[in-house]
Amino acid sequence: MPTVNREASIMLAVMEPNPADPALHLPGPLASYGDAIPAYLRHAYSWAYLDPRTLRWLDRPAVVSAILWGNANRLMRDAVAEFVPGQRVLQAACVYGGFSALLAQRLGAHGALDVVDVAALQVANARRKLAGFRQAKIWQADLSVSGCVAADAYDGVCCFFLLHEVPEAERCRIVDNLLAAVRPGGRIVFVDYHRPRGWHPLRPVMSMVFRSFEPYAQSLFAAAIESRSARSAGFEWTKTTCFGGLYQKLVGTRRG
Ligand SMILES: C[S@@+](CC[C@H](N)C(=O)[O-])C[C@H]1O[C@@H](n2cnc3c(N)ncnc32)[C@H](O)[C@@H]1O
Repeated sequence: MPTVNREASIMLAVMEPNPADPALHLPGPLASYGDAIPAYLRHAYSWAYLDPRTLRWLDRPAVVSAILWGNANRLMRDAVAEFVPGQRVLQAACVYGGFSALLAQRLGAHGALDVVDVAALQVANARRKLAGFRQAKIWQADLSVSGCVAADAYDGVCCFFLLHEVPEAERCRIVDNLLAAVRPGGRIVFVDYHRPRGWHPLRPVMSMVFRSFEPYAQSLFAAAIESRSARSAGFEWTKTTCFGGLYQKLVGTRRG
């Protein structure tokens, strides 16, 4: 089992992108990958995920921790704890910070971690951060496209703070594709924002953040995540919230 110190050192080690790192220099200009990038991502999140200049500032522990109001470590550890060593797990989209390294470490040398992201820059950055983990593979694909990942192929699927960043139509397709990837008896874990309770002191601040920077986030709260796919009927669901309801963890276990 990893110790807390080992986790902390891995998080620090993987978090500082070096602009001179060849892995961050894509073969050809970023625009040549533009066709693969969904329109919503280009319009709303170019600054966050498609620009190497901001990546090197955003992909830092202090920034990730600040964005999640000091809850990043707890949310990452709670998600990772849902999986066990030796499993084959799909991580839906890259995440800034040490999340993928923690997950790879949790699965261990006998496990397998597949990370899929639609942005070439993020794929290159994740490859750099996971270079020391032979159990990890990262590739580029759009998770909202049917057949993007193999069906019934994974013991576990982890979707960490992706759904609030995609429009409803793509969100439904992503949830459906991810549920399809879970083998019978396997588990899917969604960690994301949740509508905070009425008394939450950060509610007005978060409303402003969502309005200004996260144009699709509020639509996530309109319905339960699992209601986005008819496949959810084949799963047992458990939802927990924390930090005054601002964050949710939804765990589905596939029957059979
Ligand atoms: C996981 S989400 C947000 C995570 C969180 N804000 C963070 O980075 O700490 C960000 C990633 O989702 C990816 N992404 C968005 N739409 C996607 C899609 N349809 N398929 C695959 N990856 C997608 C983006 O390229 C980006 O790397």
